[in-house]
Amino acid sequence: MSSGSAVVAATDLTRVYHTRGGDVAGVHGATFRIMAGQVVLLKGASGSGKSTLLSLLAGLDTPTGGELIVAGCDLRRASQADLTHFRRRTVGMVFQSFNLMPTMTVLENVCLPALLAGDALPVVRPRAMAHLDWLGLSHRAAHLPEELSGGEMQRTAIARALINDPPVILADEPTGNLDSVSGQAVADYLAELGRHFGRTVLIATHGALADHLADRTLCIKDGQMSEGACDLS
Ligand SMILES: Nc1ncnc2c1ncn2[C@@H]1O[C@H](COP(=O)(O)OP(=O)(O)O)[C@@H](O)[C@H]1O
Ligand SMILES: [Mg+2]
Repeated sequence: MSSGSAVVAATDLTRVYHTRGGDVAGVHGATFRIMAGQVVLLKGASGSGKSTLLSLLAGLDTPTGGELIVAGCDLRRASQADLTHFRRRTVGMVFQSFNLMPTMTVLENVCLPALLAGDALPVVRPRAMAHLDWLGLSHRAAHLPEELSGGEMQRTAIARALINDPPVILADEPTGNLDSVSGQAVADYLAELGRHFGRTVLIATHGALADHLADRTLCIKDGQMSEGACDLS
């Protein structure tokens, strides 16, 4: 594979937290590349650095060392304006706890990031409905999150992550709050985004639901990355 198609290029990537108890390395000297369209699992025990890494890739947190280029954006050197654009247009995030707005309907939740990015509702609405349809949620569009099952909430969050058409999808323990049947459906949809829609998908998990769906597995342990399966025992 040529380096030209690397969507993520991390070199010696480091994020040290300065705490009262001393410095804690969330991510420590990680070097890896992820190619366009790959579905990659990020495995690691609790506290190994998965969420820290995803926050860095999403432009929500800044590295304290090393280099990080995501979809052509140099995240250590980007201006605030570039970062805002990056967070809105380049990455879509899915979280373990769904993070839906409780007072907004499913459709409103899905439309929100596009409206915040400046798109007009008449343009956004059909896009949102198309994503909900793909995710089997058309009949839930007018419902509030509290009226949904966990699996439906997470599929709503996937639709929301897609609304600005980002090339990169980052999912942080997306099946962690779901039973195995709905968790499997969520893992299947995320993998489809890579396999059939050419998006680059990184799924952080310590579960096994997505194991058979991934092109590749990265293992993180004490903030250090390696290629291949992880011993999580
Ligand atoms: N905001 C923070 N301040 C200090 N330490 C943190 C912070 N966030 C994470 N850490 C530490 O960084 C390490 C990695 O955490 P995290 O990325 O949340 O791991 P995971 O998502 O794999 O459970 C842990 O030792 C954790 O305690
Ligand atoms: Mg985490």
